[in-house]
Amino acid sequence: MPLSNTGAPPASVRHNARPYLHGPETTAMVRAVEAGQYGHGPQADLFERELADYLDVDDVVAVSSATVGIHLALQACGVGPGTEVIVPSQTFAATIQPIVALGAAPRFIDHAPDTLCIEPAAVQEAITPATRAVLPVLYGGRPVDLTAIAPGLRRRNIHIIEDAAQAFGSRRTKGPATTVYSFGPIKQLTALVGGAIVPRTSEEAEALRQMRSLGITSSQADRIRTTTYTVQGPGLRGVMPDVNAAVGRVQLARFDEVATRRITLWNAYAQALHGAPGITLVDVGGDTVPFNCVVRVPGRDRIHQIMRDRGIGVGVHYPPNHLQPAFARWTRPLPVTERTAREILSLPFHPAMTPDDARWTATALLETLTKRSP
Ligand SMILES: Cc1ncc(COP(=O)(O)O)c(C=O)c1O
Repeated sequence: MPLSNTGAPPASVRHNARPYLHGPETTAMVRAVEAGQYGHGPQADLFERELADYLDVDDVVAVSSATVGIHLALQACGVGPGTEVIVPSQTFAATIQPIVALGAAPRFIDHAPDTLCIEPAAVQEAITPATRAVLPVLYGGRPVDLTAIAPGLRRRNIHIIEDAAQAFGSRRTKGPATTVYSFGPIKQLTALVGGAIVPRTSEEAEALRQMRSLGITSSQADRIRTTTYTVQGPGLRGVMPDVNAAVGRVQLARFDEVATRRITLWNAYAQALHGAPGITLVDVGGDTVPFNCVVRVPGRDRIHQIMRDRGIGVGVHYPPNHLQPAFARWTRPLPVTERTAREILSLPFHPAMTPDDARWTATALLETLTKRSP
């Protein structure tokens, strides 16, 4: 049934993305505050264990954000001055800044236009003697499978660190990669802010735990019982506070509801936009809990403006990094990225939206496209 979309947009469509809380997060947070443990404490320990169970992995290392997680995971595998990290340009700046902060060089590569994710052949072509890591971004939550080239990368001591900031709940490629999740405000699972790393080995887990605690070998709890401590190597203040872990635990216990809502919403958009002339839906694949819903449209800037003027919460994820002043030293031509960057438009997408809201927005987009001046 065609939906009328004259007049103001439904309230939820005014936001491109929003945190989604179930209710008990507030009580959990207050309890954590009252417990008086504000750094990494019992809540963070429990959250790590529950995440490992949920993901069916041996261990998870909670951190203060995905940005810090990417920094630590890169540093743990030897990324530093004189090394290169192969990375897509089409990502949030948070993927790139840790590379630069470590004194390494981002080696930007193009992505596939239909998924906005990097592919094994492009990675292979970009390898140089300086390559120490590949940092695929699971754009919109879509898994990036590099298993075909993983043995070759391993032989050359090149590590795969997945930026899965947008991909909690999506299928994990087990084995070759270290995976970093974000639990920021609008992610599939929020801890208000926070992140987590799935390490490949127990040695890597131990190194990451030390690095998230300023390089100090003993835990916070052990430290206060002794007269000294050892700073063994590099590190940041990167633990996940218990207050955040308490919120994350509530969210994890109810994650399946959010996953279903996000998948249902994305499918409603896909159905409503199927076959629409001039619109290409960026495909998230079948193993994904979508983070967003992105279309490619010619004349994006104008459509963005018209829809924003109507109060519809469209956005752009993201202006590409190889064209940013901060990363100009490492820029190179990326024709696919540069083309798709002019076309991508993120539609309103968050779990409080209904499939009807998605259909309303799709109709508004189609109308905007047909009304567009030549
Ligand atoms: C692709 C990507 N990488 C990294 C990050 C950084 O995550 P955090 O905010 O947890 O540091 C984000 C967050 O928006 C992201 O979308």
